[in-house]
Amino acid sequence: MSFFSCCKLQEKTTKSSLKKNLKDYHNFCFRPDHGKRKYIVEEENERDEKGNITSKIFTYHELSVATKNFHVHNMVGEGGFGRVYKGRIKSLDNKVVAVKKLNKNGFQGSREFLAEVMILSFLHNTNLVNLVGYCSEGDQRILVYEYMSNGSLEDHLFELPPGKKPLDWYTRMKIAEGAARGLEYLHAEASPPVIYRDFKASNILLDENFNPKLSDFGLAKLGPTGDKTHVSTRVMGTYGYCAPEYASTGQLTTKSDVYSFGVVFLEMITGRRVLDFSRSSEEENLVTWALPLLKNKRKYTTLADPLLKGNYPMRGLYQALAIASMCLLDDATARPLIGDVVTALGVLAMHVQVGKQKHTKETYIEQGECS
Ligand SMILES: Nc1ncnc2c1ncn2[C@@H]1O[C@H](COP(=O)(O)OP(=O)(O)OP(=O)(O)O)[C@@H](O)[C@H]1O
Ligand SMILES: [Mg+2]
Repeated sequence: MSFFSCCKLQEKTTKSSLKKNLKDYHNFCFRPDHGKRKYIVEEENERDEKGNITSKIFTYHELSVATKNFHVHNMVGEGGFGRVYKGRIKSLDNKVVAVKKLNKNGFQGSREFLAEVMILSFLHNTNLVNLVGYCSEGDQRILVYEYMSNGSLEDHLFELPPGKKPLDWYTRMKIAEGAARGLEYLHAEASPPVIYRDFKASNILLDENFNPKLSDFGLAKLGPTGDKTHVSTRVMGTYGYCAPEYASTGQLTTKSDVYSFGVVFLEMITGRRVLDFSRSSEEENLVTWALPLLKNKRKYTTLADPLLKGNYPMRGLYQALAIASMCLLDDATARPLIGDVVTALGVLAMHVQVGKQKHTKETYIEQGECS
């Protein structure tokens, strides 16, 4: 089943056709008889004349004003979709937002824009980024999100600028748990289930308290129902994070997301990028390097991020690596459900209080400073 089977895609999406597509998607996913309807946070959204939930539609002028004419000083990042700017929306009480402007010559395009608007307009969860609205004026395609003041997980794991504190162990566990909860919502609560397809460190955004929220749904697909296995015709995602069966055959299931989760979790534990060509050839692919070490408990400490300076509970490290290796199993059916991962991570992240008290007693190998 194609994600777009419920709504005809048009290359030139006008405001009204976009609204219609959104309405069709709404009717398809959230028919009144469907019990999952309750998961939508209704108060946060506008409604159209028939009571359907919609995101706010902005004019290009409004977003230009919000970002000081898309000034480079307001730019907070750049990805495959285009540049992301910080802005303030006057009509929303000067609400601070992130404005993502589609690069017209970019690799990703209208199809991803539409998927993003559709999915985020109708799925709401504390671990998914909130779409404030969008602009589809002429050939402009712009997405407006809640602003996440701590940027992406990637910004806190790799190539930290001097003086920036690395994430401590428990914050890493809390982020992993929240991100897994976001996936659990998509896999088990959304109906039909949604396969996220692009789970990676740069797509996990962090608020002021380091609560994680998944972003970028342009690649997401509605998942299979019943026993059917989803086969995708367009193999996409980000190299390195893709499950082996998805990369080789295009076979897409919720377990492909579980594999990607395993990769990101390994990045969080090791502080290494999934692909790092500045390393020796044996170490440039994180998963290939880590798998033999994961089979030998005595080698586990070599996998811990040196920036943690030994500040982690030994048992927690063992358990975290055990979870990562299960998610990374070649056999997709043997990987855990993301709900089971959430439960296991809940225990590891819960140590926040206990761990701080136990600090000197049992668990840390060596002292050092982390945020
Ligand atoms: N809602 C947001 N709040 C704050 N910063 C954001 C927000 N969305 C994106 N950013 C910043 O912009 C950067 C680029 O995001 P974007 O999603 O466009 O690209 P990416 O995830 O790095 O790559 P890709 O296009 O492959 O997904 C992020 O890494 C993050 O630092
Ligand atoms: Mg992204």
